[in-house]
Amino acid sequence: MAVRKIIRMGHPTLRQVARSLSDSEIASAELHRLIQDMIDTLHDYGGIGLAAPQINESVRLAIVEIAGGPTRYGELPELPLKVFVNPQIDIVDPTPEGNWEACLSVPGLRGFVERPQHIVVRATNPDGEPFELELKGFAATVFQHEFDHLDGKLYIDHITDTTKFAFEEEFGRYMIDQPDGDRTANPDAPS
Ligand code: NI
Repeated sequence: MAVRKIIRMGHPTLRQVARSLSDSEIASAELHRLIQDMIDTLHDYGGIGLAAPQINESVRLAIVEIAGGPTRYGELPELPLKVFVNPQIDIVDPTPEGNWEACLSVPGLRGFVERPQHIVVRATNPDGEPFELELKGFAATVFQHEFDHLDGKLYIDHITDTTKFAFEEEFGRYMIDQPDGDRTANPDAPS
C-alpha cells in the first residue's frame, strides 16, 4: 500500500496528453500496483475520482468511486470503486447542464462548469476485458472531469462565467444555501 502525492495545477504532467496502456501492460503486476496506489491515494485524500496523471503517471487510467445518495443535484447513483483503462466517452445528448466541480489537483477552489449530461463510457478493466457504462446527470460530469485529466485538461478550462469560480470557504458562505453534508455522498468532493 502506498499513498502517493497528488500533483497540483502548474505541474507540467497535468497538461500532457497521457499515453494509452498497451496490451502487455494491461493485466501486468506493475499496472495492478499502480491501481492499488491510486486507490490508496484516493481514499487518503478523499474524493470521488482520481486519474493517473494526478499522481504524475502519464497513462490513460482512472478510478471512480461514488458513495451515492441524496445531494442538492438530486439522487446520485452509487458506483462502487471502478477502474477505467484507456477510457473513451461518447456523448449521447450534447445538451449541457452546469454543476459545481472541484479537483484534488486544484485544491481549495470550486467552479461552475457546463457539460453534456448523458454519455456512454467505453473502457477496459484491469484484466483487459472491455465494458460500457451509461451515465446521466452529475455522474456524467464526474467522468468527463476525470477523463479530461488524461488529455491534459482541467475543469477550470471549461469555466465560462468566472464569477462562478470561488474558494471553498466563500462558496460555502455565499454561493450555496445549505451546508455541505456528508462528504462521502457529496458531489462537491474533488476528483
Ligand atoms: Ni480533477
